[in-house]
Amino acid sequence: AAPVITIDGPSGTGKGTIASLLAEHLGWHLLDSGALYRTLALAARRHGVDLDDGAGLGRLAARISVRLEGERVRLDGEEVSALIRTAEAGVDASRVAVHPEVRQALLGWQREAALAPGLVADGRDMGARVFPDARLKLYLDASPEERARRRYKQLKDKEMDANLPNLVQELRARDERDRERAESPLQVPPGAVIVDSTELSIEQVFARVLQFVDA
Ligand code: CDP
Repeated sequence: AAPVITIDGPSGTGKGTIASLLAEHLGWHLLDSGALYRTLALAARRHGVDLDDGAGLGRLAARISVRLEGERVRLDGEEVSALIRTAEAGVDASRVAVHPEVRQALLGWQREAALAPGLVADGRDMGARVFPDARLKLYLDASPEERARRRYKQLKDKEMDANLPNLVQELRARDERDRERAESPLQVPPGAVIVDSTELSIEQVFARVLQFVDA
């Protein structure tokens, strides 16, 4: 099997950026697992499947096609990259992500991404559940205030709607749902290296991560 490096942690820790930098540095594939949950939630909205209907969402996942091509995401052939990056799509994703049927359905999609020469996998349960045999497990964290500020800046940079107080609230609700769900909750995987990025720039976090990669 191809080697895997997992990067887990809550929203706004720089996980996505670090995962992408690392994949590029190593010449490995990149899996943005959150994009899969976001896309399934979008498909549910479109097909009229209730976000609380785990069984229905599991069936929906079995009949749609989701393709990740670098930063681009296709749902049944249509590019939906921008549609799944809104703050609302993040909230929807965390709602569909609580269902065991959904997590089970997405396991296969995620494991298929572990192709030669290697994979950097970004998510919530990459190290704990999807790739338990990963060669290196990283866990990125930061204070909730700093994470909300980064999210705000990210959305503003993309000229998307953003309101800081709303983001803080939303982040809190999303964290709670991710940490407290029964199935694969967000947690530090056994054996993971924890990097707290609250006071660090992306460059500093990346430098620290590389020390563990080369070690
Ligand atoms: O970029 P950000 O961290 O805000 O969001 P994301 O990584 O795209 O994930 C969106 C939501 O999908 C998370 O809040 C989780 O509820 C869910 N998710 C998950 O449950 N498991 C994963 N491996 C990835 C995302």
